[in-house]
Amino acid sequence: MNLIFVEQTEKLLKGISDMKLNEIEIFLQKVQSKLTRTSEQIGAKFPYTTTNGKYEEFAYEDDIYWWTNGFWVGIMWKMFLLTGDDKYKNIATECENKLDAALNGFEGLHHDVGFMWILSAVADYKLTKNPEARKRGLIAANYLMGRFNINGNYIRAWNGDAAGVAIIDSMMNIPILSWAAKEENDPRYIAVAKKHADTINKYYFDEEGASAHIVVFNPETGEFVKKVAGQGYSDSSAWSRGQSWAVYGFTLAYINLGDELYLERAKKSAKFFMEHVGEDNVPDCDFRAPKELVKKDTSAGAIAACGLLELAKIVSEEEKDWYIKSADRLLSGLIENCDFSLEEQSILQNGSLQYHGTEQTHIPLIYGDYYLVEALQKRLFENEVSFWK
Ligand code: GLY
Repeated sequence: MNLIFVEQTEKLLKGISDMKLNEIEIFLQKVQSKLTRTSEQIGAKFPYTTTNGKYEEFAYEDDIYWWTNGFWVGIMWKMFLLTGDDKYKNIATECENKLDAALNGFEGLHHDVGFMWILSAVADYKLTKNPEARKRGLIAANYLMGRFNINGNYIRAWNGDAAGVAIIDSMMNIPILSWAAKEENDPRYIAVAKKHADTINKYYFDEEGASAHIVVFNPETGEFVKKVAGQGYSDSSAWSRGQSWAVYGFTLAYINLGDELYLERAKKSAKFFMEHVGEDNVPDCDFRAPKELVKKDTSAGAIAACGLLELAKIVSEEEKDWYIKSADRLLSGLIENCDFSLEEQSILQNGSLQYHGTEQTHIPLIYGDYYLVEALQKRLFENEVSFWK
């Protein structure tokens, strides 16, 4: 039996909550059964969303650079941790090997190398000490370093004519830099991660604590140019997944980089997030969009739940209950939106890619499933094995 599997099941996260831990345990068992079935059906693929309940189209498999290509790998590593069964490790390793086409192809890479290789190579290395996985993680981290704009102190998000663009999602990519800093015993990675986090902290948030999705800088002078809506409703709205990246991303920034300002930002983002989640406990796709047309995004709830549960471990005893109760509110909303039928391969439903457009509204999203699994493990096991820190 796998040693980490044994350690992870030893402790339960303590806290006063309306949600009974045994309900969550039963729920996690259902999630595991579903993932067992889906993994037998799809194996080492890169699922994104389902059509008529099936991942059969693999719409994004053709794009090996697609930002979500690490999430199924991460789910397989989480299943390995839960079960100790090598079949999940084998699928994860096969996917990781396939991702070499992106690492070697280079030209389509972007800032999301963090999402992609933290959940594949870094996870692999943390669990197995595979030297090839370490090398992949370091290549990805060095690539991210190369995207740093020294004029504006930000990591460039996208390619093409987007030299001045950085986005809030990036906060989840920078943990690969703190991992590399430890591996290489080299503070350069930390310096870049901190400068980037400081830039996000300074320019993205408004008075109320809402984050923009996109900020454009002048790439030559580094000056702030403007906030842009991106996947949200408007330039001054509050795209909920962006807010959840802020909650979890700044929490991880505090844990990995150790600046109290990041903890303050994470707490402020968490408060803002929870103040805007309605009675159904499922975030709207944009908290400031007109209420005549409400779109939901369960993936934002799953990501924020992970951040809240991580915050619960580091805030004071008096604050802790609020974070656990808030995470449980979100978890109860997620539970209402899961599909365990034989006809559907994904689990979490009603994710939305973005506010505008209808095509990818209220669909399953692979990252919704990934963060759901991570949140459930965090809720049940105080010493959950994290790939992000
Ligand atoms: N841009 C990544 C996301 O949809 O959250």
